Amino acid sequence: MTDGLTAIYPGTFDPVTNGHLDIIERAARHVARLVVAVSQNPSKTPLFSLEERIALAKEVTASIEHVEVDSFDGLLVEYAGRKGAKVLIKGLRAVSDFEYEMQMAQMNVRLAEVETLFMVASPRHSFLSSSLVKEVARLGGDVEGLVPPEVARRMKERFRGD
Ligand code: COA
Repeated sequence: MTDGLTAIYPGTFDPVTNGHLDIIERAARHVARLVVAVSQNPSKTPLFSLEERIALAKEVTASIEHVEVDSFDGLLVEYAGRKGAKVLIKGLRAVSDFEYEMQMAQMNVRLAEVETLFMVASPRHSFLSSSLVKEVARLGGDVEGLVPPEVARRMKERFRGD
């Protein structure tokens, strides 16, 4: 545990997957406060509304100590400043994630000296992405083990049109 460290784990979380949850659980062991920051993200057309994404993230992280869920829009570094955080947590699944993540990390240092700590995804989750999970669920495939059960249930309902 790093005394007093607040870190932000940002993302679109449409929806939160077991890959995200793995990073959250592992990161939370090393910080005093981990803010899972759900991005409004107007550049994507999410399946779940911001409110639904927040509710799901809250539900699946409820039992993890030091974790809170919030949302943001606008510049991430400005949001981090408002939260009193100088550190971001990002997960790296494969080398292909690295280039874009490095650009964002460097930009965030340049903008506000906000540092990014990278955590490598567990091998069992390194192929996961929210888009892929949504595609499998939409086509009626089994997403058990890829997302928490409540997320699987909500996706099933959504694709049935409930
Ligand atoms: N396990 C499983 N999937 C993971 C994962 C993990 N550990 N880590 C990332 N992913 C997946 C996500 O599910 C998502 O998949 P999808 O594209 O299929 O939906 C994909 O990786 C990208 O994740 P996303 O949450 O969209 O994050 P991002 O890396 O594109 O960054 C923000 C999103 C919100 C952090 C970024 O856009 C941002 O900072 N926006 C604020 C505006 C700003 O400040 N811009 C300047 C940045 S320098």
